[in-house]
Amino acid sequence: MSRPGLLLVFGTRPEAIKLCPLIQELRRREEFAVRVCVTAQHRAMLDQVLETFQVVPDYDLDIMRPHQNLAGITARILDSLDPVLCECSPQMVIVQGDTTTTLAGALAAFYRRISVAHVEAGLRTGDPAHPFPEEMNRVLTSRLAQLHFAPTQAAANNLRAEGIRPEHIHITGNTGIDAVLYVSRALESGALQVSEWPWLDTRRRLIVVTSHRRENFGDGFRREMNALLRIAQRADVQLVYPVHRNPNVFAPANELLGGRPNIHLVEPLSYVPFIDLLRRAYFLITDSGGIQEEAPSLGKPVLVMREKTERPEAVEAGTVKLVGTDEERIVGEATRLLDDTGEYLRMTRVHNPYGDGEASRRIGGILQQYLAGSA
Ligand code: UD1
Ligand code: UDP
Repeated sequence: MSRPGLLLVFGTRPEAIKLCPLIQELRRREEFAVRVCVTAQHRAMLDQVLETFQVVPDYDLDIMRPHQNLAGITARILDSLDPVLCECSPQMVIVQGDTTTTLAGALAAFYRRISVAHVEAGLRTGDPAHPFPEEMNRVLTSRLAQLHFAPTQAAANNLRAEGIRPEHIHITGNTGIDAVLYVSRALESGALQVSEWPWLDTRRRLIVVTSHRRENFGDGFRREMNALLRIAQRADVQLVYPVHRNPNVFAPANELLGGRPNIHLVEPLSYVPFIDLLRRAYFLITDSGGIQEEAPSLGKPVLVMREKTERPEAVEAGTVKLVGTDEERIVGEATRLLDDTGEYLRMTRVHNPYGDGEASRRIGGILQQYLAGSA
């Protein structure tokens, strides 16, 4: 009897980081015929991850364009994924998260009457403008999917509240935690090693920064950069900022922060060196979704430059704080973390609200049962 065919479709850095551990697990189990299709909505930042996890795609749609827009990405994915679905004819398409690739991948599968499994399902802010367009991408992907892998109880509750049948929702933890725990333990034990950071000054406290959200482009982003400039004036800190390749980020970040003392703008880092930096950080300032999940595993406080988050668990636990894009608030909370040891220690608790490192294994088992039942 032929093995059930699974096609994993993804296109950006965070989807790749969170699906590569699942690809490895599904291939290890040998119960499925596993194929990988990358849209390459990101090119360089995706290829970095594929190389790290040694995943070679079976199909590469190569759709990225400089200054691409949402409609263009969606149209190119739908158009180029459809022939792949026809050729590969999988029993199920697996998508992850909330990007345009996620939604377009699920929609293309729906048009071909192929079942969809959604990894990291059920995260919600309830506000279509925050994060934009990701909140709506997730909601629509939930409508299209048959199997929903919710990382947490709260995410599962959100899906139930939208009328999704409980037997189709599985709480698995987040596969991103599989990746971060594997890499951080391997760095700890010496099984993985990275080169020294030539600019690192161990006498100063390291603040790791990332920022790339669409809804913050323009004024919000400028306020963020002004806040970073003010924080970097302190002699006891050092800021490192791997700058996202989006031109809406790259150009203003370099214009406003380039050449400033105490601020190291670097290229996007490969995953292993980036996790090494997180381990060395005193705290993080970011608007990233994935980093909000990873930091609690490493016991690192996070100031999140967003008005709302679809990941409330670590905020409730007190290790992540929302600071929006208000310059005074960002500077104020960073100063508090640097000067108030009690506050700092309260935010450094190591905990894993988003997973325990076993999410991929659970998803593999559920897929096996589901596909056996529907064969
Ligand atoms: C996308 C996702 C966002 C996710 C983020 C992760 C959507 C709508 N947005 O946003 O949810 O959080 O990825 O990083 O799906 N570029 C390169 N090389 C790369 C990657 C990007 O040059 O390797 C540049 C290109 O000019 C591209 C632009 O960045 O046009 C924007 O990429 P896009 O995927 O549209 O948006 P992101 O802001 O990266
Ligand atoms: N990351 C990385 N290199 C970097 C910055 C981030 O590998 O220079 C990783 C980070 O550890 C996390 C993921 O990229 O796993 C987050 O991706 P991003 O911030 O682009 O997207 P989001 O999570 O906001 O969707």
